[in-house]
Amino acid sequence: TATNFLLIIGAYLIGSIPFGFLLARLWKGIDIRQHGSGNIGATNVWRTLGKGPGIIVLLLDALKGIAAVMLAKQLGTTEYVVLAAALAVMMGHSFPIWLGFKGGKIIATGAGAVLAITPVPLLLALLVWIITVALSRYVSLGSILAAISLPIWVFLFEQNNSIFVFTLLAASFAVWKHRSNIKRLLNGTEFRFGQKK
Ligand code: G3P
Repeated sequence: TATNFLLIIGAYLIGSIPFGFLLARLWKGIDIRQHGSGNIGATNVWRTLGKGPGIIVLLLDALKGIAAVMLAKQLGTTEYVVLAAALAVMMGHSFPIWLGFKGGKIIATGAGAVLAITPVPLLLALLVWIITVALSRYVSLGSILAAISLPIWVFLFEQNNSIFVFTLLAASFAVWKHRSNIKRLLNGTEFRFGQKK
């Protein structure tokens, strides 16, 4: 239906709002893509501008995911449009129309979207993230392992085929977006949390 179609376009546009880029530009007048990992996400904003801006970007990016899913739940006519909107908001974040389609790694936005769809697996994945980051000091490794764990948690605790396939797609995409981090992790040059540049 037209409504479902508009919801998916809307979700993509919501995801496209590059909060990390905007906040760095407005707050410090810098182009976040020229600093640290070059990513527009909360991790790189925290690394470059500090904790406060990092947390703000984390919350705003997560909110994009929550908002897109809530809208689709309210106005969509099938359960699939909710999952499609969740994928669309992640695609918006990752390929934002405003930044030449070069965007983020969908961890915060994806977490928001998945939280609004299936909270228990998301919270378990968050636990994986927290433990990994606490032990290794690598945010990227935490994100990668949390993403990989997510479909497993859905399989174990949610038992919904379409949500399982959805998380498998989202997680694979998130891991692929971390390919530069994976290279750095393998050759020992990945940024550790709390370390500058
Ligand atoms: O959520 C993104 C994080 O996993 C990695 O960010 O800036 O270290 O590439 P960054």
